[in-house]
Amino acid sequence: MERMSFFIFKLTIALMILNFYSVSASEDQHALDAIKAQITMDPPGLLSTNWTSNASICTWTGVSCGSRVKTQRVIALDLSDMGLVGRIPPQIGSLSFLTSLDLSHNSFHGPIPPEMMQLRHLERVYMGHNNLTGTLSPLFLDKMPSLKSLNLSYNSLNGNIPEEIGNLSELQDLVLNNNQFSGLVPQTLFNQSSIRRILLSFNSFSGTLPDDMCDQLVKLRLFFISGNKFTGPIPSSINKCRQLRYPCQQTISTVAYQWK
Ligand SMILES: *[C@@H]1O[C@H](CO)[C@@H](O)[C@H](O)[C@H]1NC(C)=O
Ligand SMILES: *[C@@H]1O[C@H](CO)[C@@H](O)[C@H](O)[C@H]1NC(C)=O
Ligand SMILES: *[C@@H]1O[C@H](CO)[C@@H](O)[C@H](O)[C@H]1NC(C)=O
Ligand SMILES: *[C@@H]1O[C@H](CO)[C@@H](O)[C@H](O)[C@H]1NC(C)=O
Ligand SMILES: *[C@@H]1O[C@H](CO)[C@@H](O)[C@H](O)[C@H]1NC(C)=O
Ligand SMILES: *[C@@H]1O[C@H](CO)[C@@H](O)[C@H](O)[C@H]1NC(C)=O
Repeated sequence: MERMSFFIFKLTIALMILNFYSVSASEDQHALDAIKAQITMDPPGLLSTNWTSNASICTWTGVSCGSRVKTQRVIALDLSDMGLVGRIPPQIGSLSFLTSLDLSHNSFHGPIPPEMMQLRHLERVYMGHNNLTGTLSPLFLDKMPSLKSLNLSYNSLNGNIPEEIGNLSELQDLVLNNNQFSGLVPQTLFNQSSIRRILLSFNSFSGTLPDDMCDQLVKLRLFFISGNKFTGPIPSSINKCRQLRYPCQQTISTVAYQWK
């Protein structure tokens, strides 16, 4: 009898866990439905014909799920280059297992929703070549401890780079070229030893580069800052960034360094 009730106890726990995962998985579906609902143009009809509720979301085009059966959660979303027009809905913050988001080469417009900061597993964000506007809110940068790659190039984003960028301890790529960012580049960025690529070209950044910038940026391989309003000399310590080579241009207004 005791054994029986123990079995029932275990069964109850198992059902609760299963229920938890299926509830959370349907949260993923709600998030994807919200994304679909915000798309005002979907030229080849990819999403409207493919993202239908009678098939599992894991079979939807651009959607990848985790491999463990009980955690069939969305881990990657790749909607790049699909000719999509629309806004990014706040519900994207419910895709809690997302590690990779690629919305590049579309016509997404409006702001990047701050709800994205809830995505604690997010490692790669590619949103280049869209029409995104607004700023990088400090909140957006504060809470994503896994972020390695942020590519927002070719949009219409403005404002400055928040100091909190320094909280992203895993950050390797910061690609913000061809936007309308301005202001000083925060010192915290030059303190981030994980960084490999910094692309800030064609914005309105100003100020000078810290003379000791290469003391921390030991892994820097790509450094493009041309087409801004920087002043002053190229730091004499630039040679300490040992991975950098080929100074394509030599003046502060046209700095572009390639990796070896
Ligand atoms: C899914 O449902 C739609 C109608 O909602 C139907 O037209 C379509 O044939 C169904 N697809 C499959 C694969 O069952
Ligand atoms: C959606 O597209 C994927 C390939 O991207 C395909 O495997 C799947 O069968 C499609 N589903 C429907 C319902 O069209
Ligand atoms: C962005 O919007 C402008 C008009 O506001 C339009 O001319 C341009 O083609 C759009 N770019 C993209 C990549 O959608
Ligand atoms: C950033 O994203 C854009 C759009 O996808 C791409 O063209 C570009 O190569 C990327 N840049 C880097 C440095 O990854
Ligand atoms: C984030 O960065 C800011 C400014 O650099 C700092 O004051 C704050 O304590 C940091 N927050 C965390 C959680 O590390
Ligand atoms: C840079 O990092 C060091 C330690 O890693 C810290 O003491 C210093 O305050 C940081 N400076 C800035 C400007 O974040």
